[in-house]
Amino acid sequence: MVISVSPIPAVNVAAVPQRSPLRYPGGKTWLIPHIRVWLRSLERPGLLVEPFAGGAIVSLTAVMENLVDEALMIELDKDVAALWKAALNHGPELAARISSFNLTRESVIELSRQCPADIVEHGFRTLVLNRTRRGGILANGASFTRKGENGAGIASRWYPNTLIRRLRAIAECAPRITFCETDGIQILDSLLGQPHDDVAIFVDPPYTGGGGKRAGKRLYAHNDIDHARLFSMLAESNANFLMTYDRSLEIESLIESYKFTAVQVVMKSGHHARLPELVITRYPCFSKGMSVA
Ligand SMILES: C[S@@+](CC[C@H](N)C(=O)[O-])C[C@H]1O[C@@H](n2cnc3c(N)ncnc32)[C@H](O)[C@@H]1O
Repeated sequence: MVISVSPIPAVNVAAVPQRSPLRYPGGKTWLIPHIRVWLRSLERPGLLVEPFAGGAIVSLTAVMENLVDEALMIELDKDVAALWKAALNHGPELAARISSFNLTRESVIELSRQCPADIVEHGFRTLVLNRTRRGGILANGASFTRKGENGAGIASRWYPNTLIRRLRAIAECAPRITFCETDGIQILDSLLGQPHDDVAIFVDPPYTGGGGKRAGKRLYAHNDIDHARLFSMLAESNANFLMTYDRSLEIESLIESYKFTAVQVVMKSGHHARLPELVITRYPCFSKGMSVA
């Protein structure tokens, strides 16, 4: 299948505002310039729905940059869900917990063994584990970062002041964000059965087919998605959507079957491998770049 290269390059993540407190595996900060172009191309959406929210950078950016009125974030993972519930409903308590925590290898190990007493403690535990485990991976079996950033060890990605600042910004927007701990496919199923003229849907499911950086089984506790069903649900509706996937024959064939359009963005991984990612929409949204097979 011939897929055009997007005229919008993948940005270096340092070039866009980091709004999520999570460093999420498969996070889409690099996609933000595409998201801005896509949302501005629509009649201003009242609601952005993100059925596989993870680090939720797209919802947070869309709300904070006023590209939509409101966002609905959905996530099935109970630990990630706890972080969003704590951030949106108990921001000041979560911030206080961050500022009073003395992060050492021992304190992190002790925290990881505890059963959280309430939602703030559960969200806090998620945040600490996410920022101290290798690659931010929360799924079972993930190990703690050894050398860390610049050899600074387990605390090398623990920036309390930065995290508190991000959480304050999230708390300010919380009245415009709804979070649901549930199955994103089910929500999509019921949503797509209703009129949705002013709804935009950003779909970034876990994907196990490509074998690339998102090999979902290793990264996420929940990774079993019926991708063919997801494509057919979107095709049967007339909803505005943008999906991202690793490039693979399975996904190319679904794009062709449903006559969706796609552009390719080449990502550099941490090891400088070039990983093609697809940005899929119903109609062309990004003007044509160079064609590659
Ligand atoms: C590729 S990640 C999303 C990353 C996100 N776009 C970001 O920028 O951080 C996919 C997410 O979907 C979640 N997930 C998997 N199955 C789900 C389901 N059925 N419903 C809701 N969330 C699900 C996973 O836990 C994971 O957080």
